[in-house]
Amino acid sequence: QSGDMAGKIPKEELEDLREAFARVDLDSNGSISAFELHDLFKEANLPLPGFRVREIIQRLDRNNDNLISFDEFVSIFQELKNGEIAKSFRKAINRKEGILAIGGTSEQSSEGTQHSFSEEERFAFVNWINSALEKDPDCQHLLPMDPTTEALFGAMGDGVLLCKMVNLSVPDTIDERTINKKKLTPFTTQENLNLALNSASAIGCHVVNIGALDLKEGKPHLVLGLLWQIIKIGLFADIELSRNEALAALLRDGETLEDLMKLSPEELLLRWANFHLENAGWQKISNFSGDIKDSRAYFHLLNQISPKGTEEDQPRIDISMAGFSEKDDLKRAEIMLQQADLLGCRQFVTPTDVVSGNPKLNLAFVANLFNKYPALTKPEGEDIDWGLLEGETREERTFRNWMNSLGVNPHVNHLYGDLQDAMVILQLYEKIKVPVDWSNKVNRPPYPKIGTNMKKLENCNYAVDLGKSAKFSLVGIGGQDLNDGNATLTLALVWQLMRRYTLNVLEDLGDGQKANDDIIVRWVNSTLADAGKTSKINSFKDREISSSLAVVDLIDSIQPGSINYDLVKTSDLSDEDKLENAKYAVSMARKIGARVYALPEDLKEVKPKMVMTVFACLMGRGMKRAV
Ligand SMILES: *[C@@H]1O[C@H](CO)[C@@H](O)[C@H](O)[C@H]1NC(C)=O
Ligand SMILES: *[C@@H]1O[C@H](CO)[C@@H](O)[C@H](O)[C@H]1NC(C)=O
Ligand SMILES: *[C@@H]1O[C@H](CO)[C@@H](O)[C@H](O)[C@H]1NC(C)=O
Ligand SMILES: *[C@@H]1O[C@H](CO)[C@@H](O)[C@H](O)[C@H]1NC(C)=O
Repeated sequence: QSGDMAGKIPKEELEDLREAFARVDLDSNGSISAFELHDLFKEANLPLPGFRVREIIQRLDRNNDNLISFDEFVSIFQELKNGEIAKSFRKAINRKEGILAIGGTSEQSSEGTQHSFSEEERFAFVNWINSALEKDPDCQHLLPMDPTTEALFGAMGDGVLLCKMVNLSVPDTIDERTINKKKLTPFTTQENLNLALNSASAIGCHVVNIGALDLKEGKPHLVLGLLWQIIKIGLFADIELSRNEALAALLRDGETLEDLMKLSPEELLLRWANFHLENAGWQKISNFSGDIKDSRAYFHLLNQISPKGTEEDQPRIDISMAGFSEKDDLKRAEIMLQQADLLGCRQFVTPTDVVSGNPKLNLAFVANLFNKYPALTKPEGEDIDWGLLEGETREERTFRNWMNSLGVNPHVNHLYGDLQDAMVILQLYEKIKVPVDWSNKVNRPPYPKIGTNMKKLENCNYAVDLGKSAKFSLVGIGGQDLNDGNATLTLALVWQLMRRYTLNVLEDLGDGQKANDDIIVRWVNSTLADAGKTSKINSFKDREISSSLAVVDLIDSIQPGSINYDLVKTSDLSDEDKLENAKYAVSMARKIGARVYALPEDLKEVKPKMVMTVFACLMGRGMKRAV
C-alpha cells in the first residue's frame, strides 16, 4: 500500500535475515545487544571502526534500550543495502553463519514487503490505549480499536490520539486548548502531529527518525517504537524513590538511600518482584524473560501484592494458586492472567507472551502491577537518612529529557549518576559537532573490574578538555567533579552543551552566521514590531516575560492567525493566569513546529536559561518560514 518500495527487503531475504538474526542472537533473548553487533563485525575482520558500528546502533536503536531488535536489525540491512559496506557486511554474515544468501533484488521479490513489526506489541498497546482513553470524549471517533487489525496505525493519522497518550504519560504536557479537534484539514492535522511529536520529544522520547508524514501514513514499526517510548515513560514515572518513598523498603543490609537512588526503573522493578518472591519463599528471578516463562513467579507475586482487606478502601482479593500445578505452560499462563484480571491488571501480555518470555511486554506487565499494587510500606524509625532524598528539579528533568530525546545511550535516568563516566556527555559533544576521538581517548564500557573508576575519570577529564577546546567556560570544573556527580558543576557543563546545541540549530538555518543572546533578542523585538505587536523583551531576564504575552505574540507573528487571543489573559494577571498563558504558549510553540523543551513554569518564573531556549527555538522556526 505504501508507494515507496525502494530499499525494501524481499520476503525471502526477510526469512533469511530472521534465521541469521537467530544465530547472531547468541543468548537467544530476542534481541542482540550492541556488543554482539560489534562482535560480528570484528570476527569478520571488517575495517569498520567501532564508532561507526556505534553510530549504526544509535541510529537504529529507536527505543533506547541498548538492544537491537529484529526490526532494527532488518533496518540495518536496509541502511547498508546500497552503501559501501553492504557487500562486505553480507559476506561477514555469510562467513560467520554460513546460511545467509542475500541474492540480488529481482523485480518480483522486491514487491510487497515492508518492515516487519511485532503483532504482539500492536495487540498489547491497542488494549492499553483502549482502556486508558476509554472515557476521553475526544477519542470516541477512534476507540475502541480492534487489536487484531491495522486500526492502530490508521488512528495515528490525525494526531489526537498521540497527543492524548503523551499527556497521559506526563500529565499537563499538552494544553487541551491547542489540539485541533473539529473539521480537520491537512494543515490542522499536520499541526496536531507537530504538537504530538514535539511534546513527545519534550518528555524525553527519541523521535529523531520519525516525522509527521510517517505518522500520517501510520508506518507500523515507527508507530510502535514511538508508542512504546511514550507508554514506558508513563509506566516508569513513579518507579523512583523521591516519588514513592515506600521503595525504601527494598533497601538491603548495608545499603543507603543513595545506592537505591542509583538504580534504574528496570532494576528497581526486578528488586521489587524479588522482594515479594522472597517473602513468598520462592526463588528469585533475574529477568522478566526466561525466568517468568512458567508463570510460577507471577503466581507468587500476584498472591503477595493482592489486597488483604486490611485497608478500608481496598476490599480483599484472593488469588487462587490452583493453576500452579497445571502441566501445560500456556494453560498455566492463562490461569495466571485470569488471576491478574481479578486485580484489574490483565494488561500487556497474552499467555503466549508469557511463555515466550517477551521481555518488553513482560516488563510493562510488571510495571503496571507495581503501579497498581506496590504493596510496600515505607520503613519507619530506622537509621535511614531521608535528608538525602531530593526530588529532581525541573531544570534537571529538562536537561535529562533533552539528552534522551537526542537518543543518547544509555538512557539517562538520573542526571548525575548516569553521567559519571562521561559517555553521555561525549555523545552530546558529537551532537554539537565537537569531534570525539572514540578510538584513542575514550574508555568504553564494560569497564574492567579493577580500576573501573580510573577509566571513568579519564573519560571525564577528556570531556572537560573537549569543553575547553569548544571554548566553554569551565573555570573550576575538573573531570573529578563530573566523576563525583557534583550537581552544580555538572549542570554548568550540561547547560553549555544544551545552549550550544540550540545556537547551532540557529546557525545552521542562518548559513553559519553566528548566533548569540543579543542577536536573538533583537530578532524577537524586530519580528514583533514588524507584525505590529506591542510586546517586546529587553533580555531573557525581563520580568515582563512572566506573562508569556511576548511569546504568544511572537508565535502569532511567525504564523499569523495561529493564536486565539480569546484564550489569552492580558491584564491584571494573577499567578494562575500567568501559568495558563504559559501553558498555552508552550503548546502553541510546539504546535507551529518549535521543539521547545522548557516548561510553562520556566516562563512564568522567567528562568533565563530556559527562556533563552524558547526564544531561540521560535527564532529557528521563524527563520524556516523565511526560507
Ligand atoms: C534469564 O535469567 C536466567 C537465569 O536466571 C537465564 O538462564 C536466562 O538466560 C535469562 N534470560 C534472558 C532472556 O536473559
Ligand atoms: C492533559 O493532562 C491534564 C492533567 O491531567 C489535563 O487537565 C488536560 O486536560 C490534559 N490535556 C489533554 C489534551 O488531554
Ligand atoms: C561541588 O563543587 C562546588 C564548587 O567547587 C563546591 O562548592 C560544592 O561543595 C561541591 N558540591 C559537593 C556536593 O561536593
Ligand atoms: C528590544 O526592544 C526594547 C524596547 O524597544 C529596547 O529597549 C531593547 O534595547 C531592544 N533590545 C534589543 C537587543 O534590540
